[in-house]
Amino acid sequence: MAALDGVAFDEILEMVEVPTDHRMGDYAFPCFKLAKAMRKAPPAIAQEICEKIRDNEMFAKVENVNAYVNLFMAREPFVQNIVGEVISQGDSFGRSSDGNGKKVIVEYSSPNIAKPFHIGHIRSTVIGNSIYKLYDFLGYDTVRINHLGDYGTQFGKMICAYRRWGNEADVVNEPIKTLLGYYVKFHEEAEKDPSLEDEARTIFTKLERGEPDEVMLWQWFRDESLKEFGRVYTMLGIDFDSYAGESFFSDKMAKILDTMEESGLLQESQGARIVDLSEHDMPVALITKQDGSTLYITRDIAAAVYRKEHYDFYKNLYIVASQQNLHFQQWIKIIELMGYDWAKDCVHIPFGLVSLEDGTMSTRHGRVVFLEDVLTKAVEKTKEIIIEKGVNTDNIDETANQVGIGAVVFQELSSSRIKDYVFSWDKVLNFEGETGPYVQYTHARIASVIRNAGAAAFEKALDINQAGIQYIAGDSAYELAKLIYQFPTIIVDAAEKYEPSILTRHIVDVAQAFNRFYHDEHILVENEEEKAAKLALAYAAKTVLKNGLGLLGMAAPEKM
Ligand code: ARG
Repeated sequence: MAALDGVAFDEILEMVEVPTDHRMGDYAFPCFKLAKAMRKAPPAIAQEICEKIRDNEMFAKVENVNAYVNLFMAREPFVQNIVGEVISQGDSFGRSSDGNGKKVIVEYSSPNIAKPFHIGHIRSTVIGNSIYKLYDFLGYDTVRINHLGDYGTQFGKMICAYRRWGNEADVVNEPIKTLLGYYVKFHEEAEKDPSLEDEARTIFTKLERGEPDEVMLWQWFRDESLKEFGRVYTMLGIDFDSYAGESFFSDKMAKILDTMEESGLLQESQGARIVDLSEHDMPVALITKQDGSTLYITRDIAAAVYRKEHYDFYKNLYIVASQQNLHFQQWIKIIELMGYDWAKDCVHIPFGLVSLEDGTMSTRHGRVVFLEDVLTKAVEKTKEIIIEKGVNTDNIDETANQVGIGAVVFQELSSSRIKDYVFSWDKVLNFEGETGPYVQYTHARIASVIRNAGAAAFEKALDINQAGIQYIAGDSAYELAKLIYQFPTIIVDAAEKYEPSILTRHIVDVAQAFNRFYHDEHILVENEEEKAAKLALAYAAKTVLKNGLGLLGMAAPEKM
């Protein structure tokens, strides 16, 4: 890059564009931004660059059109390099060490104890899991936190209802449905007899003071609920490093309130304590109620301070619904006003609502759809499709699991996270659309081609220098190779924007490009060199699909 004195290589790379019209080159380089550094008119710069790099063997053709340099790569060296790179890196293709030494907290899922883990929660769980995987792949030191909603006055109500109308066996059999039932029953009864509210408050105060009977019941409700959540996490293949939820901060409240007091932020208001955020165009934040009890926001402030002290994070990410935008704006502002400069490293990553095809989801109208039921149904339906289509598999149940659950996950990560979306069975389980099953099927199809080629032929393909590269320089092969080449950049982009859908989109593109190649070309041909080259390219595509699916939290079946 001697042609561009005074401009850093990174800056140059950032300026490179991919023209939408392929006749304008594989890459285009606009020279506008160089005018200042090089003190020349952009078209003159473009012409100069053109002349200097024209003879480089990386390029088949270099053209200069106005202020642009249009680059046509020499296909063979390009394809050879990228396929060779993927073969040598395998499962690590796209991995990097950029994040080494930097701690990123990813908080996701965070359901409420004794409340249904419904299809709305799948968003945080699945998006968060993918964001964690992306950061992990980029070398960051990640911590996965499930900030459980396991604290608050509702536990006083639940304990009260359990003591009056509950029974142990029901809780053990169906913890969440049963506990939720107690909660509903409590409200019905409290309408008739308001003294129940006082009783529940007293119980919660006891819980806060750590009285053994109340703590024991609360702990039991929590454990039973976690068992139920655990089943869903197992189905999704999801794990956490910490379940430090709201209750974890109950004994850290006094200290955080002192700190807030010292920073002069807290104001008295009718016995409650608040932070006035009117200067920042936000409503007042209620920090403690009249009876001194703390709130959801107080626990978030305490949690952030704790995380900074305990983990010294580089970034502290929260994957939480956009309905909570104001809540996050408020508490992050409060952290900033407390004088913590790391407030800027706390990032709320919001997402839109899921609704069902036949209307919106609402807890109030009892139209909750449980996530576990959705996943189970996806697996059952997939099993039917597998049997009906005669899908190639050694283990129907395993494939049905991988594809059924993968389908739900993939749909979840298909459009940009902030968009509201409608959950549709037909879309989720379609094997032909831009869906999870389609990408997984393409992966399995490549695996099958490789199996059919036999071990010896595949072995040969892995030595890219022996392969006949000219056979994978045609249009469809070259388009596929270019997409494979982009994979590592796509991962960085998806991580930086906290947007797994960028990756989802890309692996659909790779799958489609492979299928075009597969349609246009015959892979298992007589000519050994040609076969080796085509197998190598197919294997590179398979590697990208596998790594990509893995980063979305999905399996990549070898047969399907
Ligand atoms: N438990 C909350 C809910 O289900 C989500 C918690 C989000 N995380 C947080 N740090 N506030 O609505």
